Amino acid sequence: MDPDLDPGRSCPLHYHYGPEVLDRLPVAEAQTLLVVGGLYGNVDALNAILARYEAECRAATGPVRLVFNGDAHWFDVDPDAFQAVNLALAEQDAIAGNVEAELAAASGAGCGCGYPEYVDAATVARSNEIMERLRAVARAVPGSRNQLGNLPMHAVFSVAGHRIGVIHGDPESLAGWAFAAESLAPPDTALRTALGCAQARQTSPELVRDYLRRANVSVFASTHTCLPVAQGYRWDGGAGAVINNGSAGMPNFSGDLRGLITRIGASPAPDALYGIELDGLHCQALPVAYDHRGWLRRFERWWPAGSPAHRSYHPRITRGPVYTASQADRGFVRV
Ligand SMILES: [Fe+2]
Repeated sequence: MDPDLDPGRSCPLHYHYGPEVLDRLPVAEAQTLLVVGGLYGNVDALNAILARYEAECRAATGPVRLVFNGDAHWFDVDPDAFQAVNLALAEQDAIAGNVEAELAAASGAGCGCGYPEYVDAATVARSNEIMERLRAVARAVPGSRNQLGNLPMHAVFSVAGHRIGVIHGDPESLAGWAFAAESLAPPDTALRTALGCAQARQTSPELVRDYLRRANVSVFASTHTCLPVAQGYRWDGGAGAVINNGSAGMPNFSGDLRGLITRIGASPAPDALYGIELDGLHCQALPVAYDHRGWLRRFERWWPAGSPAHRSYHPRITRGPVYTASQADRGFVRV
């Protein structure tokens, strides 16, 4: 463990990779790709997502892939639920998030979230507490730390002739925030004001285009930063996109209690909320309607009032964040 790390804020050195690593990975073909980030141990959302995957498989004429892109665990301090999530990770494609990385081997970075300075200290401290409790569960479930430690940090898929880079944070780091809704330029001023991060660093369209080029992908599918966003980019002779699903296992929009996953396909899904189309490639935000009442009962049993997860997440789980689908649906910007 590195004693210089600031738990919950720091990004450990081994989280860093750089976009070029994606250009060197083997590519898995898919007609449809479901990208599931931030399940956060919601086993009810997991059931709904696996049912959707089965339905997509029945409807498709080519391969359908489901990839978990990190933070599949978080609230699942019940050993049976923890094992159910691990089983899904083993049966499908999966990469690590900071939660899995820190469960496999504590780096001294607490939860490993790499929270930016505008996230308050109390929230960071509670995330570190959640991680400590989850670590005890991982230690008690045989083989799980090994399994999670063997997950890669990135994957590349080919859909409709486009290379898709699947990452957890951003193209630099497992816990990077460059693809947060509040970071991607052009800025959403109302959102940045609401989050108290008006001065936070912006990820310029030029930088995203550079990341796309260096990774040799048309699309980055990310998660990690908890709020969804889909941003397209056009430049002379080309186009690309970043799509961040927010959370598969928590509400993402005000008053909408569904989770959200990313669906990337050669044909669009009729029930998507919004998306970006790139030359025959549909990158869409797909809602996950799960048994919310059942999940809330579980959550409150595992994390009763006063517990760190309840204090940090109960308002969002019961009402959704102060954020709307129209804020996530950014359309294209010219580079
Ligand atoms: Fe994360």
